Amino acid sequence: MEDTELHTVSFKLNGHVQVLQVAPRRSLTHVLDQECGMKSARVGCGQGDCGSCTVSVDGVPIRGCLLFAVQADGADIRTAEALADPAMLAAIRKAFKKHRAIQCGYCTPGFMILAEYILRNALPLDQAVQTLSANLCRCTGYSPIVSAVTELLALRAENGCGP
Ligand code: FES
Ligand code: FES
Repeated sequence: MEDTELHTVSFKLNGHVQVLQVAPRRSLTHVLDQECGMKSARVGCGQGDCGSCTVSVDGVPIRGCLLFAVQADGADIRTAEALADPAMLAAIRKAFKKHRAIQCGYCTPGFMILAEYILRNALPLDQAVQTLSANLCRCTGYSPIVSAVTELLALRAENGCGP
C-alpha cells in the first residue's frame, strides 16, 4: 500500500532553514515551488531529461524532478534565486546577458546552476561543455551559453579566483 503519511523534512534553502511536512512522493521541484516559493527551478519533462529543474544540492547540480523532497532532508540547497556567492551570481547574469545566452529563459536557471558549479570547481573547458550538455535549450543553439561560460572561466583564471 502506498505511503501517504506526511513526513517532516528539514533542509537549508538559500541559507535559511526550512522545516516542512511533505508527502513521501512529492518531488523536490514541486516542494521548492509550491511550499517555498522558489520559482526558478521548473518542471519541463518531469522525467530527468531536460535539466530545467536543476538545483544545487550540497554543492552538486541535481535534477529536482528526480529527487523526492524527503530525500533532501538535511541538505544544503541553492536555487538560481540565490547562488551562494552573490558576486558570482552577478557575473553569470552579466555574461549571459552580454552573450545573449537567454531567449525564452525557461532553461536559464538550470544553466545558471551549472555555470556556478563549473566556475566554483574551475572545470577545464571540455569538462565545462560536457557539464552544460546535461541541460536542454530549445532557443539559443547553445553557442551563446558556451561563450558566456567560456568568458567567465577566462575571467576566473585572470583573477586567480571566482569572477
Ligand atoms: S523537469 Fe527535471 S529533468 Fe526535465
Ligand atoms: S532560452 Fe528558451 S529554452 Fe533555453
